[in-house]
Amino acid sequence: MAIGIFDSGLGGLTVLDAVQDQLPDVQFLYFADSEHAPYGVRASNDIHDLTNDAVHQLWDRGCNLVILACNTASAVALRRIQESGVPQGKRVLGVFVPLIEVITERKWGDNSPPREVAVKNVALFATPATVASRAFQREFAFRAVGVDVETQACAGVVDAIESGDLILARELVRSHVEALMRKMPNPQAAVLGCTHYPLLFDIFQEALGANVNVYSQGSIVAESLADYLMRHENMVGDGDGGFITTGDADTLSEQAAQFLGRRIDFKSV
Ligand code: DGL
Repeated sequence: MAIGIFDSGLGGLTVLDAVQDQLPDVQFLYFADSEHAPYGVRASNDIHDLTNDAVHQLWDRGCNLVILACNTASAVALRRIQESGVPQGKRVLGVFVPLIEVITERKWGDNSPPREVAVKNVALFATPATVASRAFQREFAFRAVGVDVETQACAGVVDAIESGDLILARELVRSHVEALMRKMPNPQAAVLGCTHYPLLFDIFQEALGANVNVYSQGSIVAESLADYLMRHENMVGDGDGGFITTGDADTLSEQAAQFLGRRIDFKSV
């Protein structure tokens, strides 16, 4: 019954929470590749190989559908994995496109030509690898014209979260927001383009100011997944749900409790 949800670490739990709320009868198997986190400072080939390996592990455990709840993996590895041959009956999807569809005022899966949209200035906060890939701008340009996207590679934030240093993580967010606003003083919308960042949503919103519309992916991915499953019922696979990690299960369970405020029991793969 499980759908696979993959992230390098804890960030994908922000997506998992939202999809569980939206789809309470579906089982999810969450895979955190904590041994290799953070992904966002790794070379592209490395990110591809690690993501590909994790996706195959989830498929092998009975997940027909795997969601990359990681922008870095979605930006750098998804297309290559999809093009190199997905096994019969299996699928892998990312978290980028649903978010961009919402900002560009589209229905799910509407691939009509790009057009003018209300938003003109978008700030993107993401990992160094996601920013370097320019995948966000590419997907945006397929759907909208005349939108200025300014990026901020948020070095250190994922590392601080994964190591449980909330004070450092908050300080880094404030300084990355300041750096972005020096380049784009009045963004209308800000995208939290890393699934770890919604754990610090309030800090982003406070630093950006109340006038900036801050987008995070959880609820958006959840709605688009519900729509996808109505059209692809067979994508709910036959494995068990739960939480697995390549890292230390006890440490990760404690950190998950610190950030999410509830107990999650990870098991080692
Ligand atoms: N949550 C991942 C993302 O959305 C974090 C990547 C990392 O491990 O640096 O990009």
